Amino acid sequence: MQNGNKPLLSVCNLKTYFFQDEGTVKAVDGATFDVYPGKTLGIVGESGCGKSVTAQSILRIIESPGRIVEGEIVLRRANDSEVELTKLHPDSKEMRDIRGAEIGLVFQEPMTSFSPVHTVGAQIIEAIQLHMSVNKAEARQRGIEALRSVGIPKPERRIDEYAFELSGGLRQRAMIAVALSCDPRLLIADEPTTALDVTTQAQILDLLRDLQKQRGMAIMLITHNLGVIAEMADDVVVMYLGRVVEEGSVDDIFHSPKHPYTKALLQSIPSIETESRTKLPTITGSIPHPYNRPSGCPFYPRCPQFIAGVCDKTEPMLQIVNERQKVSCFLYQK
Ligand SMILES: Nc1ncnc2c1ncn2[C@@H]1O[C@H](COP(=O)(O)OP(=O)(O)OP(=O)(O)O)[C@@H](O)[C@H]1O
Ligand SMILES: [Mg+2]
Repeated sequence: MQNGNKPLLSVCNLKTYFFQDEGTVKAVDGATFDVYPGKTLGIVGESGCGKSVTAQSILRIIESPGRIVEGEIVLRRANDSEVELTKLHPDSKEMRDIRGAEIGLVFQEPMTSFSPVHTVGAQIIEAIQLHMSVNKAEARQRGIEALRSVGIPKPERRIDEYAFELSGGLRQRAMIAVALSCDPRLLIADEPTTALDVTTQAQILDLLRDLQKQRGMAIMLITHNLGVIAEMADDVVVMYLGRVVEEGSVDDIFHSPKHPYTKALLQSIPSIETESRTKLPTITGSIPHPYNRPSGCPFYPRCPQFIAGVCDKTEPMLQIVNERQKVSCFLYQK
């Protein structure tokens, strides 16, 4: 609960593993968090910590040999009923309706998400007709409006172009238009600006913020860029090796981080106050290979505050620090 609001999406103890001949990759290993209506939840963590697989699990688009092995993903619908997404078949009508119409997805590389042999318009029209009973002409009109709403100039002409004819920024806008064409209540944006230059990145973030204000939708924003999180998020989830190690409001995370991993992530952001000759602090050690997760706290081999005999023995649980903030670390275990 947050200000009496019920979560739009609740992920509880989610475990998604990839079963390979060489071993099992525990991509997501007990992740728990909530997304609130109209708010932006930032999900941050180093490469490989399970951010994208978490998003794919929610949308039920995990690639084989991946599988959700445990946990619950509860989506609250517009009529206040709840649906447990892990119970639905990925190809069921209900899941297909949820994907697109209730939860939209935007990801990093719009070039690969658009077909090279169909126009942008054909793909928007298809997405709209999949979820709404409108004829082709109406869908096309909606598509043009969708392109206009994301700031694409001359949308009535652009709609007949191919993705490769658009610049990177326009392509990302077109992808947002597709994701929003059916008015989802939750937008999952997985590294939406990583492939873009900084100016275009700022424009796309502004656009997402404006669209969120107009539509009141929730955004789950996945990024490894803490600057983007600081600018966009209301709440933050910090992931490490498939687990949530800390969560809190954006103020908690930036001004009063608790977990040694969160602190290390924050120290690795370049600051304008850092003298140009001082070396950037980096997090010592590297992420363990996903087949060889350490026992105990997954961060202990890299942790400057590691307590021998404690951190390497049992896994810490998420502890409540204050109203919004939780941390999974023995330093805060009561
Ligand atoms: N299709 C797959 N088959 C096998 N392993 C996979 C597959 N997809 C992801 N993984 C593994 O799952 C783990 C989590 O990957 P994920 O893509 O969620 O990381 P991420 O946090 O999104 O990283 P990045 O910041 O690089 O996008 C990684 O170890 C990755 O190698
Ligand atoms: Mg990813």
